[in-house]
Amino acid sequence: MKTAEAFLSAIERRAKLFAPTANATFRAHRELCSWVLDPLARWADAAYGEQAFDDAALGYAKYCLGVAQAQQSYERAGKYTPEAMPEIVSGVYEDEGYMVPYMLAAILIYAFWPSMIAHIALFRDEFLRRLPRNATVLELASGHGVLSLLAAQERPDIRVVGLDISPPAVAVAKRLLAASGHGERVSFAVADALRSANPGETTTTYQGIISAMLAEHLPTPKPLFDSLGAQTAPQGLVFFSTALESAQRDHVFEFHRESEPLRMAEDAGLRVLRLVSDSSATPPQARFVPRATAMLLQAR
Ligand SMILES: C[S@@+](CC[C@H](N)C(=O)[O-])C[C@H]1O[C@@H](n2cnc3c(N)ncnc32)[C@H](O)[C@@H]1O
Repeated sequence: MKTAEAFLSAIERRAKLFAPTANATFRAHRELCSWVLDPLARWADAAYGEQAFDDAALGYAKYCLGVAQAQQSYERAGKYTPEAMPEIVSGVYEDEGYMVPYMLAAILIYAFWPSMIAHIALFRDEFLRRLPRNATVLELASGHGVLSLLAAQERPDIRVVGLDISPPAVAVAKRLLAASGHGERVSFAVADALRSANPGETTTTYQGIISAMLAEHLPTPKPLFDSLGAQTAPQGLVFFSTALESAQRDHVFEFHRESEPLRMAEDAGLRVLRLVSDSSATPPQARFVPRATAMLLQAR
């Protein structure tokens, strides 16, 4: 049976430049990383076969190089310089050739980037384990779907609905779902996260909402926070994360301070129970320090 080691050896073969950091993060956080990568290795093998590991490693290398180049352009320009939203939708979210390797990389960074590993600890130990029994959870921008699947794996009593704007990402999520055996409790659909709460209609509320690495993809995150505030049941929990000063092709909204998403959450009626924020390696003269911030929020 495939395990996390299958991803590590593929990274060693296909993404050599990035193998030392991936290995070091994995060795330093073996239990947490394996919690993500062991089930993912089983699902990916069952869904896509042996080729999945090389494809994931190649996708990871392409993603890491793209991130490094985008950060250099950001340093030069002094601000994010994204394409217009329709171009991002057609060139990224709707393009299968771009989106599939991107989604494989997007889940691997949780286990291989030192700035992301604390998100997994917060997600598992404080968000998932505190959800009430039989909770219904909404994941906005579920992408590859793996956070929803890990949620179902960890909590056999909960149900999860994942929504993402990208048809190729939802196709990946559905394929992994079929391999995971969680089909009775998890579903994925193509939808705009900002339309999941429709003004004028009775709003469905959830005991848990996951909004991981979405806010920075939006022209403005305020409607997202409003929708988190409206759709979280009383005392319900939100796992929220975002990127700060971290350029990527599809990063549109530029957060500079941890206090910015924190305030937006508070303004939307959510209480911040916990916040973690870690930086990526940055050259000493850099004016921007890329960080990944995650918060555990609770409806007041
Ligand atoms: C960096 S990925 C994050 C995927 C996953 N949540 C994670 O944490 O790895 C960003 C995701 O946001 C999705 N996305 C961007 N704008 C969206 C929107 N308005 N509604 C729903 N999904 C959106 C993209 O399709 C992509 O899957």
